[in-house]
Amino acid sequence: MNKKEPYRWAVIGCGDIARQFGQAMGQEGRTLYGVANRTYENAVAYAGKYGAAKVYESISDVFTDENVDIVYIATPHNTHSGYISEALRHGKHVLCEKAITLDSVELEQAQALAEKKGLILAEAMTIYHMPLYRRLKELADSGVLGRLCMVQMNFGSFKEYDMTNRFFNPRLAGGALWDIGVYALSFIRWFMSCPPDRIASQVKYAPSGVDEQVGILLSNPAGEMATASLSLHAKQPKRGVAAYENCYIEILEYPRADRAVITWTKDGRLETVEAGSSADALRYEIRDMEAAVSGGPDEMYLNYSRDVSRMMTQIRKDWD
Ligand SMILES: NC(=O)c1ccc[n+]([C@@H]2O[C@H](COP(=O)([O-])OP(=O)(O)OC[C@H]3O[C@@H](n4cnc5c(N)ncnc54)[C@H](OP(=O)(O)O)[C@@H]3O)[C@@H](O)[C@H]2O)c1
Repeated sequence: MNKKEPYRWAVIGCGDIARQFGQAMGQEGRTLYGVANRTYENAVAYAGKYGAAKVYESISDVFTDENVDIVYIATPHNTHSGYISEALRHGKHVLCEKAITLDSVELEQAQALAEKKGLILAEAMTIYHMPLYRRLKELADSGVLGRLCMVQMNFGSFKEYDMTNRFFNPRLAGGALWDIGVYALSFIRWFMSCPPDRIASQVKYAPSGVDEQVGILLSNPAGEMATASLSLHAKQPKRGVAAYENCYIEILEYPRADRAVITWTKDGRLETVEAGSSADALRYEIRDMEAAVSGGPDEMYLNYSRDVSRMMTQIRKDWD
């Protein structure tokens, strides 16, 4: 389906990230076509605030509405896979919040279906769309940084042990790996030249049984290595460091970063690289998605999402 813009987007879910999405659409000068949500009244309020023309009585009505071009899924992780396959089966392009699926096999099946139907399926992973990361990839590809040696990631939030939100709730696919580990692993995948083939991890479980703290060690056939330290009940900086032969790159607040500092090994010189704006993270996702849907460059990096999903699936298997 290659049509002219404006595409008609329908949003499923109207929580925190869906609200940011509604705002980003407005900033792009765009109107949302529709919204559906588990609690209908919340969808009505959302439509009023963000100007969606249509409120669906049931989520399944989104899939059967032939006017919808693109479905944006913004519900808890455990619901993604079912909504993705329904949307694809009905010929809709899909942008789904992270973590895109709970299992790499589910993602590979969805990817195969999207390819068969000529549809775009993508994970709304901010790292893949921030202009800063594109700029750093260009620098890495130019060879000026030297060979990548190690990547080191931290990400820690302090969340209360509260079962009413999704973070520690096993029935909403909570846990550190799916909620924040997906960012650390996407960063690692972005900088590594090929996916890791060796993975080791340690886990500490929360009282609810989900993973509260995780340590991960990865290496790939190119000899590149990475570590990630994740915690859901202890604050840590959101800090990523990519160490090359000639320098190291340090990025704070890395999920939506617009600034990196390069320290050059030879003389200790600091160089700041700035590109894009953190505040526009969801706008970049929307633009890249529409470009891909319209037959332009596909810069949605679903293969990276698949590699990350394989890593997370392997890690969870190791935890039995
Ligand atoms: N918050 C962020 O900063 C952020 C950033 C990036 C990505 N994400 C991702 O976005 C997704 C949603 O996160 P969020 O923070 O926006 O969550 P949230 O604020 O808790 O909102 C969750 C939404 O999903 C609906 N929902 C809850 N349980 C459901 C179920 N069992 N079936 C169908 N719908 C259900 C809720 O509907 P009701 O109105 O009925 O409660 C609500 O609209 C997650 O995949 C998350 O990882 C979040």
